[in-house]
Amino acid sequence: MSAAPGSRPRLAVYPGSFDPVTRGHEDLIRRSLAFADRVVVAVAVNVSKQPLFTLEERVSLLREAVRFPGVEVRSFDGLLVDFAREVGASIIVRGLRAVSDFEYEFQMALMNRTLDPKIETVFLMPAFDLTYLSSSLVREVARFGGDVSQLVHPAVQRALRGKFGR
Ligand code: PNS
Repeated sequence: MSAAPGSRPRLAVYPGSFDPVTRGHEDLIRRSLAFADRVVVAVAVNVSKQPLFTLEERVSLLREAVRFPGVEVRSFDGLLVDFAREVGASIIVRGLRAVSDFEYEFQMALMNRTLDPKIETVFLMPAFDLTYLSSSLVREVARFGGDVSQLVHPAVQRALRGKFGR
């Protein structure tokens, strides 16, 4: 989608751990481009759990998986709203897969709104067949040698094989 003549391009930030990026994330990035001119995929430096992939690996796998126009992959440290302001984004995109996601997402969206009322959080639903998908499930399936070829980009599949040796 392109901005109306004379108006500023609409920029969205899509933040997450992306440990690793899945087909579900890719789907949401594509959907975001229906209402944003550009999407900055923001990879969190500090994630609560010990990540499987380093920050550099998570960023580089995203860059391989989402090579479409209008998408930029960057890392961020500190508060998400500070990063959003820094890049000029007025929208935060998050995915909602199931009711179980809701409480955490609701808390985070309201906290971000308290921190910066000008930035709006928008929730997107993934494609139906990707609703069950999460990075943690992908890691678990790959760890035990299961087939993740339908769930992640081939580059991610190779990286998982590299980590788990299968
Ligand atoms: O993929 P995840 O792990 O659900 O992503 C969570 C993330 C990185 C978006 C969230 O933890 C975050 O925004 N961290 C940055 C710190 C911050 O701004 N915290 C206040 C918002 S509650």
